[in-house]
Amino acid sequence: MVLSAAAHDQIREEIGHYPNPRGALLYALHVARDETGRLDREIFAELGEHFGMSAGEVAEVASFYSIFNQPPAKAIVQVCTGLPCCLKGARGIVREAEKLTGAKSGTVSADGRFAMVEVECLGSCGTAPVVQINRNPYIERVAPDSLVTLLASPGAAIEARPPAPLVSQIPDGVEAYLLPPNGERRLAIDEYKRAGGYQAVVKAGAMEPKDIAATVKDAGLRGRGGAGFATGLKWTFMPPPDGGPRYLAVNCDESEPGTFKDRQIMERNPHLVLEGVMIASMAIQASAAFMYIRGEYVVAYRIMREAIREAYAVGILGENALGFNRRFDIHIQPGAGAYICGEESGMLESMEGKKGQPRKRPPFPAQRGLWQRPTTVDNCETCAQVPAIIMNGVDWYKARGMPNSFGNTLFGISGHVKRPGIYELPLGVKMRDLIYKYGGGLEEGRTVKAVIPGGISMPVLRGDQIDVPVDHESLKTVNTLLGTAGAIVLDDRACMVRAALVIARFFEHESCGQCTQCREGTGWTYRTLKRIEAGEGRPEDLETLADTFNFMDGKCICALADGASWAARAFLKQFRADYEAHVSARKCPFPESFAV
Ligand SMILES: Cc1cc2nc3c(=O)[nH]c(=O)nc-3n(C[C@H](O)[C@H](O)[C@H](O)COP(=O)(O)O)c2cc1C
Ligand code: SF4
Ligand code: FES
Repeated sequence: MVLSAAAHDQIREEIGHYPNPRGALLYALHVARDETGRLDREIFAELGEHFGMSAGEVAEVASFYSIFNQPPAKAIVQVCTGLPCCLKGARGIVREAEKLTGAKSGTVSADGRFAMVEVECLGSCGTAPVVQINRNPYIERVAPDSLVTLLASPGAAIEARPPAPLVSQIPDGVEAYLLPPNGERRLAIDEYKRAGGYQAVVKAGAMEPKDIAATVKDAGLRGRGGAGFATGLKWTFMPPPDGGPRYLAVNCDESEPGTFKDRQIMERNPHLVLEGVMIASMAIQASAAFMYIRGEYVVAYRIMREAIREAYAVGILGENALGFNRRFDIHIQPGAGAYICGEESGMLESMEGKKGQPRKRPPFPAQRGLWQRPTTVDNCETCAQVPAIIMNGVDWYKARGMPNSFGNTLFGISGHVKRPGIYELPLGVKMRDLIYKYGGGLEEGRTVKAVIPGGISMPVLRGDQIDVPVDHESLKTVNTLLGTAGAIVLDDRACMVRAALVIARFFEHESCGQCTQCREGTGWTYRTLKRIEAGEGRPEDLETLADTFNFMDGKCICALADGASWAARAFLKQFRADYEAHVSARKCPFPESFAV
């Protein structure tokens, strides 16, 4: 046996939470990786015993996830090179770390101490640049000269790190209901109850499930996970109960560069999320809820697990759960480094302990979701919106925001602004205010060249379009979308081909590979942009790129390919002159641009 008896006990305990043991497979792989620092055939065979799987079957699942496929070393130094981190100097961090560790990016140092890995967005874009060593809490706002201490003794430096900066804020004059007061975390259940928490779930418990769904539908709540679908309406898609289990699956995978709001809410107000999950579960008459938290969010995962433990300890969850008059459970599962597991059906596959490859639809999750049973998927922040709606009513909710985009939301702002962070504001704030009033504006003398409004899949805007209100309908008038409301700002020095290249690299890396158009199209886009950026582009490359986007768009199993093509097409359309200048100058004409 390679793993300790304690590790096996932990795995057995976790298996008890799932209708099928495989629900605990990713958890088990994490336990094994954290304890031994490796994952190999021997360990796969040992884990397989718990799940009735062969070593090969476990290996197949593990092969899908970045976290389970890192080079073996004592300290795996993961530097985020997503777009917001690149805009804040991530390349300089990689270079300095390579020098100090003696390991080139993607390799292990000769003494086996360090592995250098460039990773995609860690969901902390407001504190870019970000480094994570093994599965430890992040080191945020890393300066190149701080790496000497960090890498001399990573364990001690992580222990001594300052507390994670609270980058989420309630601006003056905003009536907030998502974030706790500025500077505070509301982690303990008593604190949450003192602030009025767990009253909405009691109120909802006295309502008919259909009335809860109708209230949320009438309030016009739209999902905060990116697609903006009407939440109350989605809840009505669940079939009538048939006596069997039915589930709520809560999406806390948050992996799209520019998006870092769910982490803030989980780390600062975990019981609000739980209360929202409970009410949503009542509305759909779920027998249990499962939360899927991205694997890198070790702190949020710990905080949510502790909040759940506390909720059981005081009888809010479990037998006769608050408001349910029956047993109700919430379980929590870790992801393992795959953006595609945020796509709802990819997430369901991953939750079942499989590769996170999206499912073909129909059947939709409401018909056949988790373990083939009716399931609703809601985003983490979407759930957190629900208690305020139930407590205060439809008119109260609709009094904030814009037509068809009601309520507050957690706006993100990152990139070239002085005060990147999360701001709780009503939908419809002007992009200009988000950048200048809340985000603190740009460095002296700099102007906005571009802004991506909501995570990198959303079509980019030019600097002369920032007077648009940021809500679903207004953004459509400028041919873009709200997405996750995480804006990324690029100043006038930035090379747009380079920005498009970093984004294309992300999609190429994250495509699950099932659809030819996505697999080939994301790779082709990345390689073509790389050539153009290096000054080796040809005039006809721009037409080839446009053809590639058409080849990908609307033809695949899930919307990753659409997002990849929308993003790349918008950069080419809005900033074609930048592309042409690269081709004619045969080099990048923006010497002061951020490095990739
Ligand atoms: C490639 C891809 C990645 C996604 N990632 C996330 C994610 O990390 N978190 C999330 O809530 N939704 C994500 N979504 C959207 C989900 O598929 C789904 O629409 C959402 O979780 C539903 O919740 P909502 O209605 O509350 O927004 C993603 C979609 C796609 C196509
Ligand atoms: S579109 Fe891309 S990510 Fe989505 S299923 Fe197809 S190959 Fe996978
Ligand atoms: S944390 Fe680095 S890009 Fe998001």
